[in-house]
Amino acid sequence: MRSTMPDLLELSAEDVLTTTRAVRHRLDLDRPVDPRVIQRCVEIAVQAPTGRNRQRAAFVVVTDPERRAALADLWRRGRAAGGSPMPAEDTRRAYAKPRSMEKVWSGLDHLDANLHRVPALVVPCITGRTDDAPVADQAGTWGSVLPAVWNFMLAARMHGLGTCWTTSNLPVEREVADLLGIPHAQVMQAALIPLAHTIGTDFRPAHRVPVDEVLRWERW
Ligand SMILES: Cc1cc2nc3c(=O)[nH]c(=O)nc-3n(C[C@H](O)[C@H](O)[C@H](O)COP(=O)(O)O)c2cc1C
Repeated sequence: MRSTMPDLLELSAEDVLTTTRAVRHRLDLDRPVDPRVIQRCVEIAVQAPTGRNRQRAAFVVVTDPERRAALADLWRRGRAAGGSPMPAEDTRRAYAKPRSMEKVWSGLDHLDANLHRVPALVVPCITGRTDDAPVADQAGTWGSVLPAVWNFMLAARMHGLGTCWTTSNLPVEREVADLLGIPHAQVMQAALIPLAHTIGTDFRPAHRVPVDEVLRWERW
């Protein structure tokens, strides 16, 4: 299957790992995505590790235009609910590169206006809720789905597709579950990932905090 895949970019593993950006403005809203490519991305996603090899992650892929529109409307409601305020130290890191957060905000507005037009909206899920769980259980559950989500996004990049991790479905998780038939009592949504061909394929490594700030040898 792999050899017949269209649009497999020639990128090294390091290229893929360092140039898989949050794509918003550069999602091609007019070009459909081949379902075989989405299937391949999910096959690659589930190669990620899971706690006790339980393999409870699942991906709900929404391509039907009416359902996408309804999902996009819920996402907008979730976004409007707003997130918690950022501590000063997080703000310092986020805004360290001039204009980078302005790009994020304008990208978010673009996504908000156009989410229903993105050819596929992907909702990664995991069986097992952590609503009031102890940290170890939370880590085991989230750690069994988030690596698969990132694998999915890396695989998408390899295939010329762009993604952006978003979480605005989560304030309205129950309504999204009703829309998509997800059994909310047992299954948690982890994110909502817009998926589309990218406009151009040249993406660069991002500015990040200096490694000295995050790499601690031997002790904190
Ligand atoms: C846990 C998590 C939640 C995120 N939530 C959102 C979101 O709700 N909306 C959005 O547009 N981007 C969201 N992002 C994307 C981040 O803004 C993005 O990964 C970050 O700005 C780095 O982008 P870059 O890799 O292109 O530099 C989220 C990313 C993560 C990891």
